[in-house]
Amino acid sequence: MNKLKFLELQYFKMKATIASLFLLFSLNLALAETKMEIGFDVYKNKAMCGTCHVLQAAGSEGDIGPNLDQLKPTMDQIIYVVVNGIGVMPPWEGILTKEEIEAVAFYVFSSTNK
Ligand code: HEC
Repeated sequence: MNKLKFLELQYFKMKATIASLFLLFSLNLALAETKMEIGFDVYKNKAMCGTCHVLQAAGSEGDIGPNLDQLKPTMDQIIYVVVNGIGVMPPWEGILTKEEIEAVAFYVFSSTNK
């Protein structure tokens, strides 16, 4: 292989790598977007978290539980409380799927920890 061919090949490989990285990145963004949409649907409709919680991103103003914008809960904290419940907040294990619980936690976390 002459030197020019070799360089051409390296250049092609580099372009292919960049293209696949870009694809992966876009895919990740698309997945995150879907997760946000599912999370919002769970928050607003399926579990109606907003009847008890303030969350600016969802426009909810419930005042039975803590204000989530102020609380800024961690992912683990949200998943734990949604699965197990706390005080008057009911547990959702067996009612929401694991994916829905993760999505609503991701939604609340991303909306409050900026
Ligand atoms: C019936 C009202 C009600 C609903 C519906 C409700 N919550 Fe709560 N939530 C509460 C109350 C009350 C607390 C505080 C309980 C306590 O500290 O004793 C709480 C606490 C929390 C906390 C803080 C937990 C901690 O570690 O202190 C998070 C996060 C939370 N709720 C998220 C959610 C999400 C997400 C949903 C929807 C899946 C939801 N809540 C639905 C009433 C509710």
